[in-house]
Amino acid sequence: MKIGDILITPEQIETRVKALAAEISRDYQTVEQPLIFVGMLKGAFIFMADLVRHITVPTQMDFLILSSYGDATKSSGVVRMLYDLQVDIVNRDVILVEDIVDTGLTLHYISRELELRSPKTLKICSLLSKDECRKIDIEPDYVGFSVPDRFVVGYGLDYAQQYRNLPYIGVLEED
Ligand code: IMP
Repeated sequence: MKIGDILITPEQIETRVKALAAEISRDYQTVEQPLIFVGMLKGAFIFMADLVRHITVPTQMDFLILSSYGDATKSSGVVRMLYDLQVDIVNRDVILVEDIVDTGLTLHYISRELELRSPKTLKICSLLSKDECRKIDIEPDYVGFSVPDRFVVGYGLDYAQQYRNLPYIGVLEED
């Protein structure tokens, strides 16, 4: 495997992440209790770290781990919770932070699971979206970039646990 086209540069990511943080901060200006950011590990760890540093309203943070694709590049649709939240989200404003929405199956599973815990509000912020790949009708409230139906890595996103450290989003290609 090797990295082919660079779809999104570090500079583009930085600009967009700051804009998303400004939009979220505006939307939650009047929040009564700290806004809870829930990062989906491991893919969202870099995005979440950059995003929250530009948020200007009071925040709390927590993380979730769901089972992943393994080493495959397509979603099996079977998702399991491997590590659960430590905070109670009842009656709280929550933003779920994802790396990428592809079929939407993962997001559907986790948003249904979190809704059962009765948050005051639940919104989804995803760095990337493969708009044309949805198998289920679900859209994030905040999206960084729409990307084509290609397997992308970098800025937290992996293939077989590699490439997460790349500072850009690139397309993974066969050698
Ligand atoms: P979905 O359930 O098909 O929407 O897939 C969502 C999850 O699959 C993401 O959180 C990623 O972990 C992973 N994923 C989907 N597409 C890609 C990709 O192009 N690169 C890396 N991971 C991906």
